[in-house]
Amino acid sequence: MLQNMCKMLEAAKRGGYAVPHLNINNLEWVKYILEVCEESKSPIILGVSEGAAKYMGGYNTVVMMVKGLLKDLNITIPVALHLDHGSTFEVCKKAIDAGFTSVMIDASRFSIDENIRITREVVDYAKTKNVSVEAEIGHIGGTEDEISADIGYAKIEDCINLYQNTKIDFLAPALGSVHGLYKGEPKIDFDRMQQIGQTLKIPMVLHGGTGLPDDIIKRAISCGICKININTELQIEWAKGVREKLANDLNVYDPRKIISGGENNMKHAITDKIKLLGSYNKA
Ligand code: 13P
Repeated sequence: MLQNMCKMLEAAKRGGYAVPHLNINNLEWVKYILEVCEESKSPIILGVSEGAAKYMGGYNTVVMMVKGLLKDLNITIPVALHLDHGSTFEVCKKAIDAGFTSVMIDASRFSIDENIRITREVVDYAKTKNVSVEAEIGHIGGTEDEISADIGYAKIEDCINLYQNTKIDFLAPALGSVHGLYKGEPKIDFDRMQQIGQTLKIPMVLHGGTGLPDDIIKRAISCGICKININTELQIEWAKGVREKLANDLNVYDPRKIISGGENNMKHAITDKIKLLGSYNKA
């Protein structure tokens, strides 16, 4: 069932696990993710970046595709359809009006005052539509879409300020994780993560889940992280399978067969993440 992220992340916070946020890029990915999560009885967040929404045709297409699959595949687990890194109020509104059940407003590139102003505008609109809102403080580095390569660690006072003035549902504080592959060892500020979690008491989000060792993921969950975003790792696993399919079968030309070359790899990776995050059997 399509729902916002509030209930599932509050349950995760109480239960000491995290719900996977997996980015989607096409119909096949949605299908693979839903099938694995239904079988594992795991709640799931389908993350859609602005670039991915554009690629798939637009926000309405994404909503209708996901709703169609939920029905045709008889999906019973909680599913949230979430805009990942919405860059402006207008983009968030577009996703909400199309039927997204959750949005992230990422105004972290602006001053804290401007971040608060834009985030509050999104929260005010989202609340009228029962849509949950995630915001970002500091700067998560990496290569995803337009995001720049620098990491800027979130300041606790900015997190408190943003929360008190916007009443966001969830916060993604930048604490050393990056989008894409890590160059060297990830340096996560766990002390600050714990402090922010204990001070704000709302579920926190960890971006840049690809390449984080299992012990870092587990420690982050113990500090109050309730949602972990993963994208690049699934892309790598899927691409490996497709490459193998094409290399091993020189006569294949049916796009359905080529694309599904990545299905097994991706499904294994998703199952592993569900086990690691602890969301197995939590639906
Ligand atoms: P990765 O691509 O590093 O897994 O990060 C995904 C992400 O944080 C999307 O918001």
